[in-house]
Amino acid sequence: MSALLSGTGLVRRFGGLTAINDVTVEVREGHILGIIGPNGAGKTTLFNLLSGFIKPTRGTVRLAEHEVTGLRPHRLNRLGLARTFQLVKPFARMSVLENVMVGSYRLSRDSREAAQRAREVLALLGMEDLTDRPARELTMPGMKRLEVARALATGPRLLLLDEVMSGLTPTESKAMLPVIQRIRDSGVTILMIEHVMHAIMALSDRIVVLHHGSKLAEGSPDEIAANPAVVEAYLGTAPLGR
Ligand SMILES: Nc1ncnc2c1ncn2[C@@H]1O[C@H](COP(=O)(O)OP(=O)(O)OP(=O)(O)O)[C@@H](O)[C@H]1O
Ligand SMILES: [Mg+2]
Repeated sequence: MSALLSGTGLVRRFGGLTAINDVTVEVREGHILGIIGPNGAGKTTLFNLLSGFIKPTRGTVRLAEHEVTGLRPHRLNRLGLARTFQLVKPFARMSVLENVMVGSYRLSRDSREAAQRAREVLALLGMEDLTDRPARELTMPGMKRLEVARALATGPRLLLLDEVMSGLTPTESKAMLPVIQRIRDSGVTILMIEHVMHAIMALSDRIVVLHHGSKLAEGSPDEIAANPAVVEAYLGTAPLGR
């Protein structure tokens, strides 16, 4: 299977701090790749490097057949990459549908087509009931889904999800699992950072563990759960189940 997105030999320094130190990752087409690691491990920095929000000090990023190192996020979006942000900020007065259309207008300038695409995405996320509600009335799980919907509406091949389950109750995060599976089954490759361990274990085809800016381990969920170095890294900092 080929890599849809890859980062090779990535290094990112902030002054004297090396936040990412020679990390190589590959997201295979059709897969869900999970990124985990203790606080400050470099997960968000890696995400920002792969999605064009910051530039690597060294190393290369490839998206499908394109070398995209240093390209800005909007260029990457045109090449099929979309991401969510951990802090969700919908347009509060606009309806859920209108918020999602902000994304789907990237695919079509025709408002009927954009609305149609937005409705399809809302159906995929199980949000049809909320279509005409102002975004400010959404609950936390609704906000999180709207954030995913806005990214998905741009028609990506690859979706980067930044802690879309943080701030949800266990029941609410469990309800997100089939949603993310449906997105993958619709043909979208997914890279996700997540602290909710049961979710990352259940969803990921492969998991990369970061620790102090380096790749500590990579493997299937079962391999990662049984890896003594991973268990130790978590026990030394935050508990595994956060
Ligand atoms: N813009 C920046 N300037 C300076 N240092 C930064 C910057 N961004 C991140 N860092 C540092 O790089 C390291 C990795 O941070 P990063 O946010 O990538 O970790 P993380 O794994 O996402 O952590 P968390 O689980 O807490 O979100 C940290 O020491 C952080 O303070
Ligand atoms: Mg982070």
